[in-house]
Amino acid sequence: MPPAIQHPAARRTTVFAPRLQALFDDHLGKDLVRLEPDTIGIAGAELSDRILAARKATETERPTFKPLHGRSIPKSEASAGIRTIGQDIREALTHPIPEWTDLSGPWPLTGHMFLRDMVLRDDPYRLRILMSRKLEIDPKLTWTTITVGAALPGRPAPGPHLTHTANLFAGAEGYHDRRYAMGMYRRLAAPVCFTISALVANALWLGSPFDEGVPNRNLLHEALRLLPPSWNLLRNRSPEYPAVDGRIGPGDDVLMLPLLTHRDPALWDAPDEFRPGRWDTLDPDNTPGYMPFGHVSERCWGRHMVMPLAELLLEHVRRTGLVVAPGQRTAEVPLLGLLGVKKIHVGPKSKVRHARD
Ligand code: HEM
Repeated sequence: MPPAIQHPAARRTTVFAPRLQALFDDHLGKDLVRLEPDTIGIAGAELSDRILAARKATETERPTFKPLHGRSIPKSEASAGIRTIGQDIREALTHPIPEWTDLSGPWPLTGHMFLRDMVLRDDPYRLRILMSRKLEIDPKLTWTTITVGAALPGRPAPGPHLTHTANLFAGAEGYHDRRYAMGMYRRLAAPVCFTISALVANALWLGSPFDEGVPNRNLLHEALRLLPPSWNLLRNRSPEYPAVDGRIGPGDDVLMLPLLTHRDPALWDAPDEFRPGRWDTLDPDNTPGYMPFGHVSERCWGRHMVMPLAELLLEHVRRTGLVVAPGQRTAEVPLLGLLGVKKIHVGPKSKVRHARD
């Protein structure tokens, strides 16, 4: 019998940062572990569910709408902000990606730049600069960029030449409101550019080249399982938690770890394998232990924008025949708030063969 041909993705190794790898090595399959003297990690599906249902996230625990420049963001304003970026995304989605668009290059960077240009169009430089990946080096850089941008003389005239999100800035009066509007712009647009490009890069790394006929949605659900960009959800100490489980002390913060839950051998067949076909029969909104967008009681508000954009990118990559360089055998996943491969090389089959890690 001829030897079975191995899928190129099977020859790749994902190299997790040592502390992430230690989580797999030491805690996989356990429902609760002590991570620090004052921090409990939760990987059990049922326990995560009970903790997340015990109370709503406080404003400082919310990733997107935590207070901005010391000012709380009321729910009404948060909802309006999401509707605003949602409008920009819907408008961007009305134009198909031109056939000649080349998404080859290093990912997630290439996806990030593409999303920035697609969704934020020709917004003024002082706003678009807020999507620079260089700002990620140090959170203080974002703050400085916002402070300087808000202080610059002049401001764009509001109007349809700007995105709806940029019009929030154009309509702001005075330095403080402008600074706040710039912070909002960053909060609303960054998840679009950073998290969606990370998600698509993760999917490519895990499974490219994909078999024809496999729905993009299944590829994304499976990538969200194995490499969830939001790999941990923090809840600060709170009297509800010791009541849920006596092993949690009153002074313990609680860190839910979807990264581990999503690979729990008790929940998943072949937990470490990339098998998009499992989503033919599973419902991603109702699969115990699957929480890439958080808990059912307060799921990610942006998820309905994430999936169409990520599908669009993945579809274009597939349709234009791009693949992960066969020569790339390893990709690092650093220890950051957003979990994803640091750099993968994507290109047309013939050209990327020799690209190295
Ligand atoms: C791959 C992309 C994304 C992933 C994996 C993701 C994941 C999550 C998760 C896990 C939560 C729950 C957090 C918790 O309970 O502690 C969450 C909440 C939330 N997400 Fe997303 N998200 C993504 C993209 C976006 C986008 C594009 C937006 C909008 C611009 C967005 C806006 C929000 C908001 C508003 C919340 C509610 C809590 C808050 O942060 O204020 N997300 N997301």
